[in-house]
Amino acid sequence: MNPGKVYLVGAGPGDPGLMTMRGMQLLRAAQVVVYDQLVNPVLLEEVPVDAERIFVGKQAGKHCIAQGDINEVLIGYAWRGIDVVRLKGGDPFVFGRGGEEAEALRDAGVAFEIVPGVSSAVAVPAYAGIPLTHRNYASSFAVVTGHEAVKSKSTVDWAKLATAVDTLVILMGLHNLPSIVAKLLAHGRSANTPVAVIQQGTTERQTTVTGTLADIVERARTIKAPALIVVGEVVRLKSALDWFFPNGDAEPAPTAHRVQDHGE
Ligand SMILES: C[S@@+](CC[C@H](N)C(=O)[O-])C[C@H]1O[C@@H](n2cnc3c(N)ncnc32)[C@H](O)[C@@H]1O
Repeated sequence: MNPGKVYLVGAGPGDPGLMTMRGMQLLRAAQVVVYDQLVNPVLLEEVPVDAERIFVGKQAGKHCIAQGDINEVLIGYAWRGIDVVRLKGGDPFVFGRGGEEAEALRDAGVAFEIVPGVSSAVAVPAYAGIPLTHRNYASSFAVVTGHEAVKSKSTVDWAKLATAVDTLVILMGLHNLPSIVAKLLAHGRSANTPVAVIQQGTTERQTTVTGTLADIVERARTIKAPALIVVGEVVRLKSALDWFFPNGDAEPAPTAHRVQDHGE
């Protein structure tokens, strides 16, 4: 019996229209789909009715399924000759542990294919009207995890990032927003730097709050995960480039404000 193959597929950031054609083709032919929390359930409607659907995200009140256990599921099916679609939010190789899963598959001798997805890191700012680069405002951007901001020995070099990169896109940083802001200020980023926090971007529940490093912690109090943070002058373009008006963003929320309102 030939072993099955594992497809590590990016599901995009939320809007099902951002799924790639290759990803959709694999979903429609899937025998087994192993999927994460951030995957839009609408995409699972594309999976054949007799296919197995296995949720490996975090369930309310329970711990996340250990990465080793997820790897075992993927390898177990492949060794039984069954192809697996491993569906992950955004892009599988951007903070999605896709690298670890691919390594485990390689070590087990299981063939795999990577199907990139549209990462929330670029799509969510885009749906909020924020370009990550712009001739007049930013010629570099970095995507970093905010998960580690509170660690004294964080693997993210906040001291360098604070001033060396024009636009910072911070994933998994909502809970650590106060520490992130404190680190950026301590390492020389101006308190007037515009910041946006975007919740459930690209979906009908997208909600955006803007402010500056001086006041974003207070302004973003009502924002809930999943959310990402954009720091940099490009956030100033939001008021001019806003184009996506789902329920959450249609009318400016009471806490939302436009950076220009401060006369900056
Ligand atoms: C584990 S990372 C996975 C990132 C994913 N692989 C990608 O490329 O988008 C999860 C984080 O991505 C961000 N994120 C993912 N989808 C999002 C969305 N629709 N709106 C806002 N942030 C999102 C949040 O910061 C969330 O905590």
